[in-house]
Amino acid sequence: MKNTPAAPAARPPVVQLRQVTVTYGRLAVLEDVDMTVPEGAFLAIIGPNGAGKTTLVRTILGLVKPAQGEVRVFGKPPSALGPLRRWIGYVPQMHAVDLRFPVRVGDVVMMGRYARLGLFRWPGAADRAAVRQALEKVGLAEAIHRPLADLSGGQRQRVFLARALATEPRLLILDEPTAGVDARASKSLYELLREFQREGMTVIMVSHDVGVVSQYVDGVACVNRRLVAHGRPEVVLTDDTLAEMYGCQAMFFHHGHAPHMVVRMPEEEQ
Ligand SMILES: Nc1ncnc2c1ncn2[C@@H]1O[C@H](COP(=O)(O)OP(=O)(O)OP(=O)(O)O)[C@@H](O)[C@H]1O
Ligand SMILES: [Mg+2]
Repeated sequence: MKNTPAAPAARPPVVQLRQVTVTYGRLAVLEDVDMTVPEGAFLAIIGPNGAGKTTLVRTILGLVKPAQGEVRVFGKPPSALGPLRRWIGYVPQMHAVDLRFPVRVGDVVMMGRYARLGLFRWPGAADRAAVRQALEKVGLAEAIHRPLADLSGGQRQRVFLARALATEPRLLILDEPTAGVDARASKSLYELLREFQREGMTVIMVSHDVGVVSQYVDGVACVNRRLVAHGRPEVVLTDDTLAEMYGCQAMFFHHGHAPHMVVRMPEEEQ
């Protein structure tokens, strides 16, 4: 038998959608979406309210089953990922947390480890270390024993990011992580995400922050039921794309280094 090393298998894209259509009842919420997210990408999903951004994310996660088309995550259908599910970290849109429930920051982050723990296993030293490390990454190491209710909105978002990081994901998906967070905190969050990307993580983030986000990401997917455009931010974020996406006149121009968007709504009908 020859002892030649096997050629390394080409790694599949982290996420691949082919002609995906999602319907709720008879309503098509996503139609014919083709999308490829290569390993190590930092992709922003943008689009107006109700465009299908969260639905797209939930489809990638396997929480929504498309009526048509094919979804592959790490080369497999989401439902067939099995233990590989823990490669995905997810920060859902707006956390409906009952703050009367006396939960501490460290406990919330530990929830991120349960995907790895499985049944009948108590968290061990490695889990506690992962929780501490995740909190350090988001700059909240000191808050581990504090009640979640005592934190600001921005800090709480970081706790949920830490929860997603505690699973040590290769793919991190965030749905509007900066909603209700001030500009400075948003910026530092984007910088943190870019750092994760540099470390090799693939990051997909839903955002409304078109202009700001484009300074950090290397790909933008504009969604409005259909995938209006998908590519590098400087190519995708043109007048036409924004006009199609928001259904109104939009101008996108460069303002120093910070792209700046102005959206003009159509005149109100008399
Ligand atoms: N479980 C559901 N059942 C029925 N319709 C739904 C369901 N979830 C979402 N929809 C509808 O699908 C469409 C897309 O919703 P989705 O939440 O994906 O939009 P979005 O782009 O994330 O919006 P937002 O910017 O407000 O978060 C909306 O019209 C919404 O009302
Ligand atoms: Mg949404």
